[in-house]
Amino acid sequence: MHIMLSLFLSQENFGFIFLYASIIIVQYRMKIRSIITGTGQFVPPKTVTNFDLEKIMNTSDEWIRQRSGISERHYAEKGIGTSDLAYKAALLAIDDAKIDKSEIDFIIAATLSPDHYFPGIGVLVQAKLGLSNIGALDVRNQCSGFIYALSVADQYIKTQTFKKILIVAAEVQSSNMDYSDEGRDIAVLFGDGGGAVILEANEKNDEKGILSTHLFSDGRYASDLWMEKPSSKDKPTFTKEYFENNRFFPRMNGRNVFINAVQKMPEAVRTALNHNGLTIEDVDHLIPHQANDRISLMVARNLRIPVEKVIRNIDRFGNTTAASIPIALDETIKQGKIKEGDIIVLTSFGSGYTWASVVIRW
Ligand code: UT7
Repeated sequence: MHIMLSLFLSQENFGFIFLYASIIIVQYRMKIRSIITGTGQFVPPKTVTNFDLEKIMNTSDEWIRQRSGISERHYAEKGIGTSDLAYKAALLAIDDAKIDKSEIDFIIAATLSPDHYFPGIGVLVQAKLGLSNIGALDVRNQCSGFIYALSVADQYIKTQTFKKILIVAAEVQSSNMDYSDEGRDIAVLFGDGGGAVILEANEKNDEKGILSTHLFSDGRYASDLWMEKPSSKDKPTFTKEYFENNRFFPRMNGRNVFINAVQKMPEAVRTALNHNGLTIEDVDHLIPHQANDRISLMVARNLRIPVEKVIRNIDRFGNTTAASIPIALDETIKQGKIKEGDIIVLTSFGSGYTWASVVIRW
């Protein structure tokens, strides 16, 4: 017995055993996937219809519906910040995941409209939840913010760095809209709201969870959709001139954004499907960022996916930027449309430019 053990643990065999054990460990680790265990959304109660906008600016219900498919959106009241919407969405996601908030070991928050210039909303959500001593990361990737945040969280789960991550995306955009003719293209599109998910490790090896994330950007087109001011380039940052010339409002080259959105989202979806050996026929639900209903329909046509499989709720929410995908995901789940084993593809495009895709097996 002793001789056999000595032989077994001889130097050569020891190397082999070590290698074999490493392979088993690596394989085991590779099987860990992230799964969404809870979702939530919160939009402020105040609804603003196109007819309401007609009263305060030079626009019409007909123009807005024809060009964007939007009928109404939600606006936060004065005193309500992005972190407030994020917090309420987070509570609902935590409840949905049937976990105690103390189990959350990391927060990732995405927004382009933080309560303050700094710090970001991640720490504000953390404080509202009463969770001290855990990390809170802010993601600044605008319409792609949620998918970027999900992608970061996915890596942390797969590497077993964290076990339960709160990902929250929220916007209060109504407080900084230009309702003059110069800003009306943007002002009619955007709305306020928040969406959240809880991401956890699925160690069951049942192939459920996030199958892939793909992220892209092209900063050469940053000024096609941006809020130029305030800028750290100015000394002092806040000058009288930029207040006088309304340079603190978001501005967009709508046509360029539109053309790129209808190309880049399908590209990102195809990349994701190829990566997973899937085809468009395998997709049960496509959730595109709700930028404009015409964009969603053109993405569907480009991908040749039946329009019934494309989730579209922009008519009631407008474009809620980072929050649009988690709001649409939560709504689709709560409507009972998603079945176990369904393939869900998320895709986004927006300011930066940034664009992205995610494939999830539910
Ligand atoms: O979340 C991602 C970021 N955003 C997007 O994905 C949005 C992408 N872009 C778009 O969705 C579209 O470009 C818009 C909906 C913003 C605009 O639609 P469009 O068909 O590209 O219109 P346009 O910008 O070419 O403007 C057509 C006309 C213009 O008047 P003239 O120059 O033809 O006399 C605009 O001044 O419509 C006018 N217009 C409006 N009229 C009434 C622009 N905004 C409005 C408005 N109401 N709100």
